[in-house]
Amino acid sequence: KRRVGILISGRGSNMAALVEASRASDSPYEVVIVASDNPDAPGLRWAQEAGIMTFAIAAKGMPKQQYEAAIETALLGREVEAIALAGYMRLLSDDFVARWRGRIVNIHPSLLPNYKGLDTHARAIAAGDAIAGASVHLVTEELDGGSVLGRAEVAIEPDDTPDTLAARVLAAEHELYPLVLAQWLSH
Ligand code: GAR
Repeated sequence: KRRVGILISGRGSNMAALVEASRASDSPYEVVIVASDNPDAPGLRWAQEAGIMTFAIAAKGMPKQQYEAAIETALLGREVEAIALAGYMRLLSDDFVARWRGRIVNIHPSLLPNYKGLDTHARAIAAGDAIAGASVHLVTEELDGGSVLGRAEVAIEPDDTPDTLAARVLAAEHELYPLVLAQWLSH
């Protein structure tokens, strides 16, 4: 199985979905480490309880090069082959992306190339869109800009708020990400 490391900053519900899917005997990947830029990320505790090695560093106020080096050392120590970002809310440095080129994926809560960056659901509602969704894409130096590997669409209802829409998109993310990661790692 391919050795995957997951980076999180918070709740980690997509991380949990990836871990749960990896337990199927025919999964092409296993999650060998969950690492975070935030020692208080709730997802870290879930990963520990699931028996997965975790690593955390308090990145706040620290130079990017320094906390990224610590995270990378942890990943390399577990012989990680591919990285899945799952609610990792910091930009990776160009140097990091270059060293892992073609080996990092991310899930983003919009139908890329629409709504790169933050507040995606509020922007989709404000624009009057009928459809929102999520995308899994390769990570490049350009924010939310790499090739899209898969998308899931979610209808926007007339009474949706950013929060109600986010909840339905999140449920779709939990289906999409394990499928796309498995497909991507199968060839
Ligand atoms: C998810 O909706 C993910 O798509 C989004 O943050 C949430 C993390 O939730 N990611 C981004 O906005 C990346 N810029 P989770 O921690 O429960 O997986």
